[in-house]
Amino acid sequence: MNRPIRSYVLRQGRTTPAQKRALEELFPKYGIPFSDQKIASSRKLVLEIGSGMGETTLAIAKAHPEADFVAVEVHGPGVGSLLNAIEREQLANLRVIRHDALDVLEHMIADGSLAAIHLFFPDPWPKKRHHKRRMVQPSFAALAARKLKHGGILHAATDWPDYAEHMQEVFSKEPLLESAPAGFTSRPVTKFESRGQRLGHPIRELLFRRAGKAPAAR
Ligand SMILES: C[S@@+](CC[C@H](N)C(=O)[O-])C[C@H]1O[C@@H](n2cnc3c(N)ncnc32)[C@H](O)[C@@H]1O
Repeated sequence: MNRPIRSYVLRQGRTTPAQKRALEELFPKYGIPFSDQKIASSRKLVLEIGSGMGETTLAIAKAHPEADFVAVEVHGPGVGSLLNAIEREQLANLRVIRHDALDVLEHMIADGSLAAIHLFFPDPWPKKRHHKRRMVQPSFAALAARKLKHGGILHAATDWPDYAEHMQEVFSKEPLLESAPAGFTSRPVTKFESRGQRLGHPIRELLFRRAGKAPAAR
């Protein structure tokens, strides 16, 4: 059987009792189970891929009550932490999906529906033989571009220079994307970013937007 190449390996990291309780009790309230149903929003809809422990996700959603945010993450403890934070802050505009973000983009997001996609510090997979596991590939750029509204922003960041170069090349070659002057939001420092900074890694921000004009309203 062909196994798809995944951009993650599920770590057996410890789930704290609070995270476990959140996964059981808060997921029904603030989570969205994976399905084939498209997510509907009459407001700006922003998807974050790989939200990790979710601190940055939470800060952005709090700062933008006018938009709806969906965080996608496969790592249970991270999902549990974010669910607890949503409950603590009583945030009405942030929901979480615990599933592979590529499947979520493909099946749960309508074409042309996203105001922005956030991809902050995706796993760098630094070894050459692991590069095929990197999230950013030409097929990802095409899928992400198709899901953005015209003018919608693809905002990525990384602390791995060769991954930044790879992203720049892949996004630049995607015909539906063009370079963008600014993101949908400014980006608070993420957990992995501060780790990169401590190690002296340079931080690169990549900003693209879906090219072309929206079709005229009829
Ligand atoms: C290096 S961490 C960065 C987390 C966070 N964005 C930050 O900057 O602190 C990358 C995260 O992406 C998640 N991830 C990797 N591939 C994914 C996928 N296909 N779908 C959803 N999450 C994924 C991992 O579980 C991990 O939490």
